[in-house]
Amino acid sequence: MAVSNLDIDFYESEDPIWNPALMAMPVPGIRKMVNLAATMDDVIHLSIGQPDMPAPDHVVNATVDALQAGQTGYTMDAGLPELLEALAEYYSKRYQRPLQPENVIVTTGATEAVYLALTATSAPGREFIVPDPSFMLYAPLIRMNGGTVKPIPLRPENGYQLDPQEVIDAMDFNTFGIVLNSPSNPTGTLYPRETIEAIVEEAAYRGIAVISDEVYDHLVYDNQEYPSVLSCCSDLDHVMVISSFSKTFSMAGMRVGWLISSQGHIKKLRRYHMFTTTVANTPCQWAGVAALRGGRGFIDDMLAEYTRRRNRLVELVESAPHLTGYMPEGAFYMFPSLPEGVNGSNVALRMLREIGVCTIAGDTFGDAMTNALRISYSTSIDQIEQAFERMIPWLARQDFG
Ligand SMILES: Cc1ncc(COP(=O)(O)O)c(C=O)c1O
Repeated sequence: MAVSNLDIDFYESEDPIWNPALMAMPVPGIRKMVNLAATMDDVIHLSIGQPDMPAPDHVVNATVDALQAGQTGYTMDAGLPELLEALAEYYSKRYQRPLQPENVIVTTGATEAVYLALTATSAPGREFIVPDPSFMLYAPLIRMNGGTVKPIPLRPENGYQLDPQEVIDAMDFNTFGIVLNSPSNPTGTLYPRETIEAIVEEAAYRGIAVISDEVYDHLVYDNQEYPSVLSCCSDLDHVMVISSFSKTFSMAGMRVGWLISSQGHIKKLRRYHMFTTTVANTPCQWAGVAALRGGRGFIDDMLAEYTRRRNRLVELVESAPHLTGYMPEGAFYMFPSLPEGVNGSNVALRMLREIGVCTIAGDTFGDAMTNALRISYSTSIDQIEQAFERMIPWLARQDFG
């Protein structure tokens, strides 16, 4: 496919037809790199943000069965009733907290759920606390609706952990929301239960919403327990918990996600959802029911494979000149840093042009870590090793001093 610079023109246009709020959306760093890589031969991608395994057979079969059974119409606005039931049951068991189907809304991927949560709450004069670095959707969605972002910088020295006291100290009378994402994209950091509990408790006391993006909730390594916001809150009035089938069951293109909250919040979001996407994809919602009821075999195999890749990547980063790593505990990303002051964006671009290795620069995810690179290990060990065979000698030749 020919790659055009259409989207770049679009974002940079000063044509008055466009709502100025669009200017809050940066040209995503991922798009720039992946578009450039598409014009080149022999590129190794360490840039991939989705699982590289096929979806499980029972999920694919359930989609085909739904299509053949004529399930091609709209579902109810909140979602397919069978999927709402299955999600309520699944989460009630997983976190030992009773949930009803009315606590859930099914969305077009976690992306729509994040969109609903942030754009339904952000408004001029409202402030949202967002860790930096973080997934690139949050800050622009808050800003395009007039809200402001108060970033909490995360540091590589402590594996990009979030200090709950820093979050609590940042809360003030304008704070309306806090966005959490554990395990994190881009760092792979898993927040411990104490962090989540401290933030959720203080936020509930002050009436601040905790919006928790938990799309990597099953991608947690070393048999660690997953501290979901759902297992750390006393009621659902101040939390919105988001996830999807995209990462857990390799269903990113099937576009089914959800948001869990109090029944009151879900009612409000249902109205908004009807004016955005109406409903999520119907046959893929049936696939979701099959995924939830189909056991953990697929997830366990995927975790074993990602654990091997992560361990190898950590070794390779350790052996690479100028890169400083750490042990990520979840998702499939690592965010190693280059020496202080080095422009990661420049390095990522040069590595792509000069040695055909595609990574994503740290400034895609905020201002705090412009000297970092996001490396995804959602690719084979063989590809990861080949990428480092190119990167290690290239990095050794750089004089960053
Ligand atoms: C942290 C995070 N949230 C949300 C999403 C979007 O997920 P979905 O495919 O379910 O829309 C992604 C995808 O990369 C992600 O990394």
